[in-house]
Amino acid sequence: MKRVIVFGASGGIGQEICRSLAADGWSIYVHYRKNVEVAQKLATELLEKYPKQDFFTTKLDFAASDQQLEDFVQSLFPVNAVVFAQGITKYGFLSEQSLTDIDRVMKINLTVPIKLTKLLEPMLVKHEMSRIVYLGSVYGGQGSALETIYSATKAGLSRFSQAYAREVASTGLTVNTIAPGAVATEMNKIFSKETLDEVREEIPLGRLAHGEDVAYWVKTLLQAESKYCTGQTIYVSGGWLI
Ligand SMILES: NC(=O)c1ccc[n+]([C@@H]2O[C@H](COP(=O)([O-])OP(=O)(O)OC[C@H]3O[C@@H](n4cnc5c(N)ncnc54)[C@H](OP(=O)(O)O)[C@@H]3O)[C@@H](O)[C@H]2O)c1
Repeated sequence: MKRVIVFGASGGIGQEICRSLAADGWSIYVHYRKNVEVAQKLATELLEKYPKQDFFTTKLDFAASDQQLEDFVQSLFPVNAVVFAQGITKYGFLSEQSLTDIDRVMKINLTVPIKLTKLLEPMLVKHEMSRIVYLGSVYGGQGSALETIYSATKAGLSRFSQAYAREVASTGLTVNTIAPGAVATEMNKIFSKETLDEVREEIPLGRLAHGEDVAYWVKTLLQAESKYCTGQTIYVSGGWLI
């Protein structure tokens, strides 16, 4: 079986992950929170291209209650892979963040992915081969000023995936984190052209990543041949920072 749920499939990186996985034969739950048009358009595009595979859209706000998370997982057809490509940031000094802002970034990026992992585990370990990939960040390896909470959540995902990988290794479930550098998506539209040019100059490969540069590694980790790679954080940053 090859059915995956891609959380954050309506995002810049998530869309490319879905295209790459669909081309590799996966059926996909295309998850979104508010961007229903993008999710539906993507599902339609993939179904036209790969009519023998399934592409369902599915909505979940990670701000949901525990009961809603449980109901969501109960409603799914079996999947043997999960990709967490959702995420948010709140740019600014810690002193300027409200306590609600702090909770929100922690919840969407770290706490709910951990809760969903726990809830999805019984379904995943039923299969001989199963996979989880989290989207981390170079800022999980080197904390970034003005993105302190974001950095903490991404570092948290790297250590959680390492620890959890060891817990479930004997079941055939591998657990890894793909940690991009700067990727040209909506998330970086908060920055001015000048700021992005400065970042570009710091990246040894001389450009921001495209979604496909990140999607390649997610697709590869989901392949059967990647079965001996678990507990790792793989930095896909063009040589930047790490
Ligand atoms: N872009 C970068 O430079 C970069 C670098 C390193 C790591 N990353 C990581 O890569 C992942 C994808 O980033 P991206 O650039 O593709 O971001 P993006 O284009 O901003 O997409 C964000 C995704 O997260 C979903 N999302 C936001 N709030 C949510 C919530 N409350 N509940 C559930 N889903 C929610 C969005 O859904 P809707 O749009 O439907 O609301 C969307 O699918 C994130 O984890 C990010 O931290 C990105």
